[in-house]
Amino acid sequence: MSLEKIRKYEFGNPYDTGAVVCDVRKQVGIPEGFKYDMNTETFTYTLGEKDMVFGLGETVRGINKRGWIYVSNNADDPVHDENKTSLYASQNFLIVDDGSSAFGIFVDNPGSVTFDIGYTDMNVMSIHPENNDTSFYVINGDSPLEIVASFRELVGKSYVPPIWAFGYGQSRWGYKTADDIRTVAKRYKELGIPLDMIYMDIDYMQDFKDFTVNPERFPDFENFVKEMKEEGIHLVPIIDAGVKIEDGYDIYEEGKAKGYFCKKEDGSNLVAAVWPGKVHFPDFLNDDARAWFGEKYKILTDAGIEGFWNDMNEPAIFYTEDHLKEVFAQVKEFENKELDIWGFFDFKDVVSSIANNPEDYRRFYHDFNGRKVRHDKVHNLYGFYMTRSASEAFDKICPDKKILMFSRASYTGMHRYGGVWTGDNTSRWSHLLMNIQMMPALSMNGFVFSGADIGGFGGNTTEDLVMRWIAFGIFTPLFRNHSALGTREQELYQFERTDDFKNLIELRYALVPYIYSEFMKAVDNNGMYMKPLYFEYRNDDRCREVEDQLLVGDSIMIAPVYEQNRTGRNVYLPEEMKLVRFRSYDDYDTEVLEKGDHYVKAALNEVLVFVRPGKELPLAKPARQVEKIDTKDLKIIKF
Ligand code: GLC
Repeated sequence: MSLEKIRKYEFGNPYDTGAVVCDVRKQVGIPEGFKYDMNTETFTYTLGEKDMVFGLGETVRGINKRGWIYVSNNADDPVHDENKTSLYASQNFLIVDDGSSAFGIFVDNPGSVTFDIGYTDMNVMSIHPENNDTSFYVINGDSPLEIVASFRELVGKSYVPPIWAFGYGQSRWGYKTADDIRTVAKRYKELGIPLDMIYMDIDYMQDFKDFTVNPERFPDFENFVKEMKEEGIHLVPIIDAGVKIEDGYDIYEEGKAKGYFCKKEDGSNLVAAVWPGKVHFPDFLNDDARAWFGEKYKILTDAGIEGFWNDMNEPAIFYTEDHLKEVFAQVKEFENKELDIWGFFDFKDVVSSIANNPEDYRRFYHDFNGRKVRHDKVHNLYGFYMTRSASEAFDKICPDKKILMFSRASYTGMHRYGGVWTGDNTSRWSHLLMNIQMMPALSMNGFVFSGADIGGFGGNTTEDLVMRWIAFGIFTPLFRNHSALGTREQELYQFERTDDFKNLIELRYALVPYIYSEFMKAVDNNGMYMKPLYFEYRNDDRCREVEDQLLVGDSIMIAPVYEQNRTGRNVYLPEEMKLVRFRSYDDYDTEVLEKGDHYVKAALNEVLVFVRPGKELPLAKPARQVEKIDTKDLKIIKF
């Protein structure tokens, strides 16, 4: 049994986070190979020259995490520059591997945890939880894949969405009316581009109130959902964490009456602000509150909805009422002063640090398993438990149906209840590369159903960026084009080369049988849907440094183009492979390439797929929706 290779160490008084589903015998002392400094409460490990570090899920920088500092502290931060340390997720599993021996670590601590992986000292990995109430797991195994399998057994089986969720989805913040959505469906249909989902952002709600639908802009919602379903399209609404404070709004009134909102030290409900203005945050960590909020999804499933995305659940805080008062008081003081340069910077800091202020996360409490716990100590569980709330409710509301569910914030354990999207990226070429590099780490951490906002969320995109991003997105389980209000529109029909886009999306649909079966294998066997080359070719030193090619399932390797104006790229082949250069699902050329370095041409409309020796790639005839694909009639490309 792989669990025998796991050792558990406990420090302080660890929380039962819900990440782990198996009992592992506790060891005494310090994890093997580590030193523990009692004063700084820091674990350190000396990295050997050849050690590489993989994992940590949704983080910036490359596949090999060595050389930077990462802080697990779920953050609503859309600026994903490589000097950032925290994004929306905390997935604290990593593997250290020098090529001959490897081990994994899972740090089960729901508060902030700093992983300094050769940042302060290039040869030292240090792990520092802000509150050292930690369960620390060390996972041994003969290879990274074996270690991944043991870890995943420890944390339980990954979420599986309905099969239609493997189709293409169009999203944008700003579809304000049912007609806006009808237009999206119509334009895709006219061009014959497959489409399974249209996402509904906060615009569908009445004043941004959860589980409401604006009756003027979306009259007769139930019939609208039906009408779209007849077109083969699933509508997927967003749900936000904050509940609007508004007299008469039933969810607010119920939550208040039952005491289900997060409270301050004095017992009053925390008042924060997000899209709806002032809100309370449901205490998802409290079992009763969680069950109560989950039931509310029924309002929308009753209207025919079969999928959701949970957002702003770090939770994002624009401001808290208390902090805002403090800021105004400070601003008044500044008003009466002559601002020298330092004064000006202080003033700027006071004003610009209003949103997601660390102090605000120390102003409220949860009722967690009967313990009153200050939020910051369990911060990373909030999005996980919001998603758990929905998922547990779906088991009751529609036990025989799979519901699409993914979240922005996450922590290990949430992978059993839903997938993730990687939050507010930007329309930049570097963010396409970041998407490529994040995917294997997400797979490793159990978040197999995941993907990024294709085309980029913030900023203005370009046609070639969307095209190259789609060409990579074809292989990501969650395949969604999403963009922010006010940015250039990026539905595929907004561009010139719609035939090329159609071919690319059809290729995805042709690949769905392969993608789905490889996805299911990864879920059922605790494997990885997307892998770094190194995980399969561990004896090939060149693969240690391949950061821009991935193995997708067992049969293929991909080498996406992620730079502007490129007409090809360098590809390293760890063994002989058959290159399939797709222009569409039925227009491609093939060529066997030998092991080694190659420069491979890839025009803007071409997708490079490499079939591994002895393997095969099945292709279906695409259909306008996943459920219409004939999976019995598959064409096979053999090596
Ligand atoms: C957040 C989400 C984004 C969404 C926006 C408006 O920024 O991450 O996807 O479009 O809120 O709801």
